[in-house]
Amino acid sequence: MILIKLGGSVITDKKEYRTFNRDVVSRLCSEIKESGKEVMIVHGAGSFGHILAKKFELNSGFRSDEQIPAVAQVCYDVRELNAMIVNELNSAGIPAISIPPGSCFMMDDRRISFGDGEIIKSLVDKGIMPILFGDVVQDRKHGFAICSGDQIMERLSDIFDFEKVIFVSDIDGLFDDDPKNNPDARLYEYVDADTLESVRSESSVDDVTGGVYEKMKSMMRMTSPHRECILVNGTVAGRLRSALNGEKVICTIARGGIQ
Ligand code: IPE
Repeated sequence: MILIKLGGSVITDKKEYRTFNRDVVSRLCSEIKESGKEVMIVHGAGSFGHILAKKFELNSGFRSDEQIPAVAQVCYDVRELNAMIVNELNSAGIPAISIPPGSCFMMDDRRISFGDGEIIKSLVDKGIMPILFGDVVQDRKHGFAICSGDQIMERLSDIFDFEKVIFVSDIDGLFDDDPKNNPDARLYEYVDADTLESVRSESSVDDVTGGVYEKMKSMMRMTSPHRECILVNGTVAGRLRSALNGEKVICTIARGGIQ
C-alpha cells in the first residue's frame, strides 16, 4: 500500500480563503484510480484551515473564548473541503469515507497521543479508503491544537507498513531557493539531514504548520531502508500517476532518516 498526502497548496489556493481546486483534485483522483495501486490518502487544509488558524492563533492552544467560534469555523471548513475530496474520489470509482482526526485522535503537547488506528484498519480491510485531513484536535496540555496532515502521515506510517510515501505539492521538490521567485533555483534530487539544514527555506504563504522545512523533516522520519518518501508536483498532469507506477519523475527523494 502507498500513502499519499494531497497538500493544501495543490488542492486549494492557499492565499484565497476557502478556494477549492476542483479540476486538479479531480485529475489527481483519476491518476490514482488509473495507477491501480492500493493507497491511503491524507489531505491538508490549505486556505480552508491555515488562514483562520493563523488569525486566531489556534496552534498556540486555548488562550481566550474568542478563539472558540474560530475553532468551530475551521473544523467546519476543513470538513467541507474533505467532503468535496471524498466526493471526487467516489466519482473516480474509489470508495472513500471521511475520518475526521478531531473525532478519533487526541493530542498531547501538539503530538498525536491517542488513536490506535483500529477504525482505519477495519475500513482498509473492507476495501474502503479512509480519508484523514489536517484538523483542529483536542490537546491535553493546550486545550486544542492544529493536527497537520503531515503529522497524521507519520502516525499512519507507524501503524501500517507502507511500501512508499508520496507528498503531493505545487512545487517540483525541494529547491536551494524559492523557485517561484528565483528561476535559477536548483532542485535537490535527494535530501538527507545535512542538506536540509543548509537550505531551511521559508514558506511564502502563511502556514501555521511550518512549511517545506518541517515537511522534509517529517518525510525523513518516515523513510526506512525499504520505504522511499518523495515530494512531487501535483499541478503537472501525470506526475502523480508516474510516481505511483514507480517510474522516474522529477521529484525530491528523502533518504537517510532522522529521529
Ligand atoms: C493544517 O494541515 C490543518 C489546519 C490548519 C487546520 P496541513 O498542515 O496538513 O495543511 P497543508 O497541507 O499545509 O495545507
